Amino acid sequence: MRILLLFGLVAVALTDVTRFEGEKVFRLKPTLDEHVTLIKDLAKSIELDFWKPESPELVTIDIEVDIHVPAIYLDMVYTMLQQSDMQSEVLIEDLQKAVDGQADGGQSPRTHSYTKYNTWDKIQSWIASMASSNSNLISKQVIGNTYEGRAMTLLKLGKKSSSTKPAIFMDCGIHAREWISPAFCQWFVKEALSTYGSDSQMTSLLDQMDVYVLPVLNIDGYDYTHKSNRMWRKTRSRKSGSSCVGADPNRNFDAGWCSMGASSNPCSDTFCGYSPESEIEAKNVANFIRRNKSTIKAYLTVHSYSQLLLFPYSYTYSLAADHSELLKVAEGASSALRSLYGTRYTSGPGATTIYPAAGGSDDWAYDLGVKYSYTFELRDTGRYGFLLPESQIKPTCEETMLAVKYIAAHVQKNL
Ligand code: ARG
Ligand code: ZN
Repeated sequence: MRILLLFGLVAVALTDVTRFEGEKVFRLKPTLDEHVTLIKDLAKSIELDFWKPESPELVTIDIEVDIHVPAIYLDMVYTMLQQSDMQSEVLIEDLQKAVDGQADGGQSPRTHSYTKYNTWDKIQSWIASMASSNSNLISKQVIGNTYEGRAMTLLKLGKKSSSTKPAIFMDCGIHAREWISPAFCQWFVKEALSTYGSDSQMTSLLDQMDVYVLPVLNIDGYDYTHKSNRMWRKTRSRKSGSSCVGADPNRNFDAGWCSMGASSNPCSDTFCGYSPESEIEAKNVANFIRRNKSTIKAYLTVHSYSQLLLFPYSYTYSLAADHSELLKVAEGASSALRSLYGTRYTSGPGATTIYPAAGGSDDWAYDLGVKYSYTFELRDTGRYGFLLPESQIKPTCEETMLAVKYIAAHVQKNL
């Protein structure tokens, strides 16, 4: 009886995974107001998963719109495209094949690997082992728990010092499906520890400053993308009164909260939450940064995809007080990144470079007084989107290291 029950549970767990057979990702290129209206109307009548921008409200003329279309709506979308003169192409022919195709990174999937997408369980034990094996350069602290009760462990890298050192804060995995992001935070920690003492810049950085790394901010969401739905973006919080789960943690910070580029509909992928910092994960990060605001000189947050290096503001079209310096540093970081494999990044303020979107952690940190506040959107530009193959983890992380180190060097020079 017990065994039967166990089998039943396993079967339920297995069949509960969302599959994407025959589903496609389209890139639409609206050039007329009618095209924009068409896309928005379509989004109202059928369930579309917006990849870029992340919700229909953010669609405007002359931007690329990447949408994931479930198989049952394909005919409808094809008819719509035929009847309009909007340009389009298919980015991903079969989404399930692309999901299965991510794992081309080789090696045993049983252990943690820097060139694979690790599950939360693996990242969690990796965090514990990193913190215990390199005690002179690294320590850990829990900044709170997620909605589902997982500990948010922050790694602190830097040479031990009796006085408090200036610091850089970096988080990854604020959006669940952007798997290359947590991969980068893990890579960064490995590189920092293994090149300290041999690489002069890393040595001087960790001698003078501390680097806080939060490997996965939205752990519940990340775990959900591994176990149930690869395309999940938001947190996993619930509230009575709505059957829809989660809010967008990068719309939940107290920076022009929910004023534009965010949705007040709990079912939207860009739902801003019920109030600023209603999501415990955002609140825990904000509390830590507030508590340490006198030492934190830079805030870096890592997303994918689009190959962008963004800085404030996104909640307003006004330029940041430090605009020209932020731009100069972003451009320097982008060219450092490009020098390795030729990967091209675009840099600029969020609102004009992609779209206005309020409630982001970058704007919030900047307004708190953290001057060097940057959002990375890592590879690629849409060929694989969120389903970047594992074979690209290493080159992506290597080139991103150069950009992060460029920014860090500038921060260090201006302490
Ligand atoms: N794609 C990211 C997002 O939608 C961009 C974040 C840019 N910053 C911002 N405050 N909107 O969250
Ligand atoms: Zn994101």
